[in-house]
Amino acid sequence: MSDPTVADLIARRFGRAPEVPEALNHSPALKGMVGRGSCRRFDPTPVAAEVLETLAAVALAAPSKSDLQQCDVLLVTEPETMARLKALLTKQAWVADTPALVVFLANNKRQRQIQQWRGQPFPNDHLDTFFNASVDAAIVLAFFIAAAEAAGLGCCPISAIRNALPEVRDILELPDHVFPVVALGVGYPAHAEPAISPRLPLHNTVHHDRFVDITEADIDAYDHWRAGLTPFGQRPDPADQAPPAEPLWSEAKARSYAKAHRADFGAFIREIGFKLD
Ligand SMILES: Cc1cc2nc3c(=O)[nH]c(=O)nc-3n(C[C@H](O)[C@H](O)[C@H](O)COP(=O)(O)O)c2cc1C
Repeated sequence: MSDPTVADLIARRFGRAPEVPEALNHSPALKGMVGRGSCRRFDPTPVAAEVLETLAAVALAAPSKSDLQQCDVLLVTEPETMARLKALLTKQAWVADTPALVVFLANNKRQRQIQQWRGQPFPNDHLDTFFNASVDAAIVLAFFIAAAEAAGLGCCPISAIRNALPEVRDILELPDHVFPVVALGVGYPAHAEPAISPRLPLHNTVHHDRFVDITEADIDAYDHWRAGLTPFGQRPDPADQAPPAEPLWSEAKARSYAKAHRADFGAFIREIGFKLD
């Protein structure tokens, strides 16, 4: 596709597009968002500190629950800090070559400080507090990604940073009530076009007025549609005569989540002072 429309790009990602109004169909902003993809291969060019600081500022313009502003962005700038964090993430080989790392922190400490400084009680010490700070951090992450991709950078989130929470807390000197929700690898992409990861069909994920549950047949259909696609944006490698057969999407997800992941997360969150009831 030489100059795809928004409808083309939606169809490419979801299999089918809704009726896209003409006024939206050529929007560069919407094309950029729907045509995006995570980037895990980077050009070695470093990302200038001013670029990261600008993107952090743009990202922190995101909406914030009750205007409490419970997300902080931590830019990893010192080579030693970078090396110590990357050493915790060696299971993800691509992270080693990531030029820049950014960590999105949920910060509920500040709210507690303000309650104290203003002589007010804090009767909201329960799950909602943990959740609000986490949601703020996730929204800032999404804004940062959109801003970075609009600026010609590639990124990939790294939830694996939560696999080593005590170590990350020590490296980044995080106080109680502050924790990393996710990190982000950032750099200039090695590929001109991102690979597009196909999503579930919109009739399974966009509901009108009431929830309609997905069926196993829907998942089967998605699995087979997805398996039949050449990864968009990736050129077939002529040397790759017999690519290894990959399991279907649902099979891969089910196998992955048949193993326990981060079962100690709740214990860590309680240890740093949150109440989760
Ligand atoms: C919160 C979050 C955490 C993620 N953590 C990782 C990670 O640790 N490693 C990784 O390679 N990708 C990670 N990803 C990227 C997803 O695998 C990716 O978004 C998904 O496969 C869809 O692909 P796309 O972003 O190219 O559309 C994460 C994404 C999100 C939103």
